[in-house]
Amino acid sequence: MDKFYITTPIYYVNGKPHIGHAYTTVVADVLARWRAAQGMEVVFSTGVDENSQKTVDAAKKEGEEIQPYLDRMAEIWEAAWRKLGISNTDFMRTTEDRHLETVREFWKRMDAAGDLYRGKYEGLYCKGHESFLKEDELTPEGLCPDHATKPEFVSEENYYFRLSRYQKPLMDLYAAHGDFVAPARRFSEVKSFVENGLEDVSFSREGREWGIPVPDDPHQSIYVWADALVSYATGAGGIEGWEEHPADIHAVGKDILRFHAVIWPAMLMSAGLPLPGQIIANGFLTAGGVKMGKSLGNAVDPLALAERYGADALRYFLLRETPYGEDGDFSEEKLRERYNGDLANGLGNFAARVLALAEKEELAPAETDDGFGQAIAEMRRAAAEKTGEFRFGDALAAVWKAIAFGDRYINEKKVWEIKDPAERRRALSNLAALLEGAAETLDPFLPSTSAKIKEAFIRDGAVLRARKIPALFPRIA
Ligand code: MSP
Repeated sequence: MDKFYITTPIYYVNGKPHIGHAYTTVVADVLARWRAAQGMEVVFSTGVDENSQKTVDAAKKEGEEIQPYLDRMAEIWEAAWRKLGISNTDFMRTTEDRHLETVREFWKRMDAAGDLYRGKYEGLYCKGHESFLKEDELTPEGLCPDHATKPEFVSEENYYFRLSRYQKPLMDLYAAHGDFVAPARRFSEVKSFVENGLEDVSFSREGREWGIPVPDDPHQSIYVWADALVSYATGAGGIEGWEEHPADIHAVGKDILRFHAVIWPAMLMSAGLPLPGQIIANGFLTAGGVKMGKSLGNAVDPLALAERYGADALRYFLLRETPYGEDGDFSEEKLRERYNGDLANGLGNFAARVLALAEKEELAPAETDDGFGQAIAEMRRAAAEKTGEFRFGDALAAVWKAIAFGDRYINEKKVWEIKDPAERRRALSNLAALLEGAAETLDPFLPSTSAKIKEAFIRDGAVLRARKIPALFPRIA
């Protein structure tokens, strides 16, 4: 069986998940479920980044010991993904032994390649990003534009990674793989960044109380990003697992694209390991135009939304509202509009109409007519094509187009008035086939809704029966 390995970022656990994190994770989930439906063996890894200074600070702020804090937070994140219908097959924690071993081996390989050396590092460090920022990346007030905090000046002896050596190999990689980063606009940003020249990066920190020690130099801890990126190899089953099957897709947000499309491939080249197939990056969700995040205190809780509207409604909104790769503004009002319009009046109402009309019929959905066969095939084709291009909104639109076709048919044919049994059976078989086809197509996007619709149909030999189900999306005022 063909294997498909997809990852999300491993998230910092200095706070709870917000809908920005949920967005990236839902996108990865759609692709994982879509590939699984095609019969592939899917490895879908998500998890948490536990060796960040931010996390240590957060534990202290809560007055907790670090490890118990990490354990508590890891559980919160894992549970959140369950509630949002995420089908991850692994949950990575960077304090696990399997990860420590992979990181050590990875470090040794980069060292053996001559890519790690000791030197003095000076620069402005943003704790929020866990990375150095250049002066020209700061606001006029000297603040980090994403976290609105003042970066601290750091000057210490540590290990550097020879990133500068990989400028040409990276440019060659980008030239050879025209879709290494998607969407295309994000790829252009990466290319021009690398074209402008690469500097070596600090890969360890001095005298840290938490983190993975540098092999043979316990006074230094491995830089949290050098540790976190390697978690993708851990998720593949370690260095050997990665060699056998590297990630097909890393789904990330645009804020961390450089780490994934520049530093990570350079690290892999250094370690003599195969590269991932593709890095895809979503834009930011903003609230009132401002990037949403823990540090800015304007984070929206995805679980509260899922509680109120259902996880599928939140998934639908995230995938449908904003073209993948672009920034999108979140408001509950917009979510409610999508909910009442597309879900309650659209899909929910169509399903209820079809199932109510078809309840007492013996259906034969294989024999579609009146253009239904074509409408269903076109829905399937377009949804698959758009999903493959990461145009999730367009993939969903293809399903809604088919639903609109079905709705029109009910109205124009006045299906509820048809008396002739053969004609009635044919009309309802058409509609049932469309509804079942829509459920099938929606499975990666709205898994629980899809399952509920499928359960409304019962196969009885060659005959298909339908039964009413509770409203899929009760209207919300
Ligand atoms: N720990 C690192 C990632 C290491 S991966 C080897 C990290 N963690 S994070 O908790 O800050 O999560 C970052 C990711 O969450 C972003 O790249 C993005 O995918 C998602 N998002 C966080 N805020 C977001 C928005 N406001 N909007 C959209 N996605 C956002 O960085």
